[in-house]
Amino acid sequence: MAHRIAVIGGDGIGPEVVAEALKVVRAAGVELDTTDFDLGGERFLRDGTVLPDDVLDELRSFDAILLGAVGTPDVPPGVIERGLLLKMRFALDQYVNQRPFTLADEGIDFVVIRENTEGTYAGEGGFLRKDTPNEIATQGSVNTRHGVERVIRYAFELAQSRPRKHLTMVHKTNVLTFSGDLWQRTFDIVAAEYPDVATAYNHVDAACIYFVQDPQRYDVIVTDNLFGDILTDLGGAVSGGIGFASSGNLDPSRQAPSMFEPVHGSAPDIAGQAKANPIAAILSAAMMVELLGETDAAERIRKACAATTELTASTPEIGDAVARRL
Ligand code: IPM
Ligand code: MN
Repeated sequence: MAHRIAVIGGDGIGPEVVAEALKVVRAAGVELDTTDFDLGGERFLRDGTVLPDDVLDELRSFDAILLGAVGTPDVPPGVIERGLLLKMRFALDQYVNQRPFTLADEGIDFVVIRENTEGTYAGEGGFLRKDTPNEIATQGSVNTRHGVERVIRYAFELAQSRPRKHLTMVHKTNVLTFSGDLWQRTFDIVAAEYPDVATAYNHVDAACIYFVQDPQRYDVIVTDNLFGDILTDLGGAVSGGIGFASSGNLDPSRQAPSMFEPVHGSAPDIAGQAKANPIAAILSAAMMVELLGETDAAERIRKACAATTELTASTPEIGDAVARRL
């Protein structure tokens, strides 16, 4: 049976890298029944559409969503990010953002589990006295016991399934004494259920040093939405480049489809020139087919990506080079 996939190529290099991801997945022998959705900044500029509720409902009926990248310089910040990407993550309750980083030559092999539905991303806050000299803007961080516990539990389960069985919580508990306290207490309570998982804690600023100087120390990391956003760009930078960083926005309860996307953005400066590295999108698609039960194909795609050295070639040539190795 073919897997039903909603494809949102999006903007900039998004459609270019997604085309290679689909090419590679099919070359691995996985049958896909894809439906394209024309969404993103370009669509918004054309007719004002971001993500209507009926389209969101339609997306719910798919086995998974594959997204390239969204964002166009001509659209004000937030319109597409909040209205499309975050709307999908939140509405589909994709509470885990899983971002693996590996660089075999340097012994780097860790996964960041980023909370994906709360924190400063929740959209709490607003303006008072806007556009006056006394203007006030607040942007709160929403942390629920339920939301924190479920993502921490997911991270413990993942750590337990890996050889090193090590989990680091990253936060800023010395300053964020309310949200940090909730995270730390919840972490400690859940940790008691996983006595075989070794744990550590890093403040996020210190974690930035370790990411650069000693990323080998990490196995699984769990952190909040904003820290996870920032740390995973750094994770990409220290493990080969952001062009290799893949991600899955997961609803582990499987009530809604999960969404897979490269960590990088739409890179409008190089769009349409076949210069983008499609490996991040290909590895995101590998994560997708793994979740759909195609574990063997996923492993073969990952191996083929690791063996592909033609990285200065054009986008479709890199896709072809990976596909050839399958
Ligand atoms: C990411 C991106 C998004 C985020 C943006 C585009 C809203 O940076 O997936 O990391 O901040 O989550
Ligand atoms: Mn980001």
